[in-house]
Amino acid sequence: KATLTFPGGTAELPMVDATSGASSLDVSTLTKQTGLTALDYGFVNTAATKSRITYIDGDQGILRYRGYPIDQLASNSTYLEVAWLLIHGELPTADELADFDERVRRHTLLHEDLKHFFSALPHTAHPMSVLSSALSALSTYYENGLDPKDPEHVEMTTIRLLAKLPVIAAYAHKKSQGQAFLYPDNNLSFVDNFLRLNFGNMAEDYEVNPVLSKALERLLILHEDHEQNASTSTVRLVGSTGANLYASISAGINALSGPLHGGANEAVLEMLGQIQESGEGVRRFVERVKNKEDGVKLMGFGHRVYKNYDPRARIVKESANAVLDSLGISDPLLDVAQELEQIALEDDYFKERRLYPNVDFYTGVIYKAMGFPTRMFTVLFAIGRLPGWIAHWREMSLDPQTKIGRPQQLYIGEGERQYPQ
Ligand code: MLT
Repeated sequence: KATLTFPGGTAELPMVDATSGASSLDVSTLTKQTGLTALDYGFVNTAATKSRITYIDGDQGILRYRGYPIDQLASNSTYLEVAWLLIHGELPTADELADFDERVRRHTLLHEDLKHFFSALPHTAHPMSVLSSALSALSTYYENGLDPKDPEHVEMTTIRLLAKLPVIAAYAHKKSQGQAFLYPDNNLSFVDNFLRLNFGNMAEDYEVNPVLSKALERLLILHEDHEQNASTSTVRLVGSTGANLYASISAGINALSGPLHGGANEAVLEMLGQIQESGEGVRRFVERVKNKEDGVKLMGFGHRVYKNYDPRARIVKESANAVLDSLGISDPLLDVAQELEQIALEDDYFKERRLYPNVDFYTGVIYKAMGFPTRMFTVLFAIGRLPGWIAHWREMSLDPQTKIGRPQQLYIGEGERQYPQ
């Protein structure tokens, strides 16, 4: 225990066990006892959220899902296996996984009428807008199965979301290219089905490249959860009102769409392209970043939590090289990225500020090599993050202590004022 001294007295602060999340800390009681308010703009949904799902140690660069290290999961598990782990807390047995996989495959089809929904949107629509709105629209087909307190409804919605969100995402992609939608092929695995829906066509069989398939699976696993960030807190906050999973996750997708969150991988690729096209050289670009010339920013570096190398970035970097090798191509943007990383990591400016590449730094290079247009990158992040959002929504909804979220406000505006006569 620690003792907090404040103007009116003292209070005992219970310590939080960061690994188990065990704590008797009750922020509202503490606030009442001390009269002090923590100034944290996401108070109820970040600082005070207790969760058993994901552990991050930003100083050490550690990320674990339900206690298991992220690199081992990314190397040895499938996306659906990790989804089960996040949602249920344990790795599935072989039978549980086979059953889960089979149920997800059985629910990939979208209602035919939903195709009219896609037709109503312009082909220039950003795929993230298509994704969030199509997901809200999807809920209207299941009006009798939306009760957030009914475990069967929640389980069924979980399966439907995992099965259908990738199909919606692929349709958003196809629409932006002016190409026909394909029906899912449920003989294929989750990732292979998704690749075919994006890159296959009506005229010929689609041949899956196993290296790309493995790389995409790893990337999706790396993105499956990342504790209380903007989109996950949004899902929890919206869900705390009793809103169903479709509505909550659609809100999370909108939160993710911002360039400071999921849109960052898109911004990194644009930055690398600009460096390459300008011909100014990476060193000169780094100098401009340090001197804050023309408001130039180094995208894909630094993180609010990681003050060390983001453990996901290291794995993504390995995958980038493996994917380009397997395709027998090179990408000058990967060379620019690697040179930029090397120069920055040797420079005191970045060392002192503890700025290291984050998960977004190399991700776009891989997605580009796979053939995804830049505007699909954040959509891929959303498909990756879906199991984490579901797990957080379920953890919160099942907790009998959960109340409707209401972020704490510290009023800093005008005092009482006379209305002008
Ligand atoms: C994430 O994976 O969600 C990002 O790193 C953002 C964050 O942690 O806030």
